[in-house]
Amino acid sequence: MPVTLNTLATKGENGAAMMPIIQGVGRAAVEISYLLRGAVFRDALGEAGAENVQGERQQKIDLLSDEIFLEEMRATGHVCAVGSEEQEALQVIDEYADAEWIVLVDPLDGSSNLDIDGPVGTIFSVVRRKNGAGGRPVEADCLCAGNSVVAAGYVLYGPATMLVCSVGSGVDGFTWHPNDGRFELSHPDIRVPATGGYYSVNESNADKWLDGMGDKLAAMKKATGLGMRYVGSMVADMHRTLLKGGVFLYPADEKNRNGKLRLLYEAIPMGFLVQQAGGKAMTSPTLSVLDVEPEALHQRVPVYLGSASAVDALLGCG
Ligand code: AHG
Ligand code: MN
Ligand code: MN
Repeated sequence: MPVTLNTLATKGENGAAMMPIIQGVGRAAVEISYLLRGAVFRDALGEAGAENVQGERQQKIDLLSDEIFLEEMRATGHVCAVGSEEQEALQVIDEYADAEWIVLVDPLDGSSNLDIDGPVGTIFSVVRRKNGAGGRPVEADCLCAGNSVVAAGYVLYGPATMLVCSVGSGVDGFTWHPNDGRFELSHPDIRVPATGGYYSVNESNADKWLDGMGDKLAAMKKATGLGMRYVGSMVADMHRTLLKGGVFLYPADEKNRNGKLRLLYEAIPMGFLVQQAGGKAMTSPTLSVLDVEPEALHQRVPVYLGSASAVDALLGCG
């Protein structure tokens, strides 16, 4: 018998509590993957004509995916609020405002790839509301450091739709089986290879990087001989990094002085996964992504994620 998402209920101390939420993510993933496949026929591609709180132009699909995700979190009955890259404020789920869990989401990651039918994803994490259960959650309730994350994962909409997640006891990859109509365990216990793989970065920014990152990357390339791959969709780039090894980075630069990627929606969930898979997640040579205390919902941080050996070779922090 294939192993389904139900297996999460048996994992770690929070697996049973996380299973309905991750099943909700799975339902959202199926809906979003259908939306993506038919988008060109439904006039659902292109810009929505609005900017998100971070000043980025929103695509129609960003907003539709956000709606789908919120509704599926509501349907779990276990989530009191959702913090989304696409919404300025925390979205409280009034019917379940007393529930214990808050979900943070990047509903559609890498959406600039849609114009070229390239891979995109959804990234999520689950935290226990910070200031105790009961009452209406507020923004401060979801400003939790990565080391208190209870579950995290991503969906990759590629040739196959995959849901890769962790409830705090390793990382498992499930693939949507189109005939069986469910996610089935295809990549049990993913471990980041200790050596090999690729470095993955938008190297066109190299002359603007801060923190001496240009020289550091050059030294890392010389020391490791790693080749380069870059999709421009963090989910696709991190999926390759988890399976093949190496390092994914988005450093601070003159334009994005705190880096580009969002702490709560991108850096923490991916950092949690990479650490659960035996790799390393840093935001500087001395600070783990998972030790950053969030100060705001839409905060950004530099990220260096991947095999410990490659991250160390890059940052000199081994
Ligand atoms: P999003 O589509 O959610 O805004 O995220 C895009 C992010 C991330 O997926 C990717 O790693 C990065 O932006 C790519 O940025 P560049 O185009 O600057 O390389
Ligand atoms: Mn993103
Ligand atoms: Mn996004």
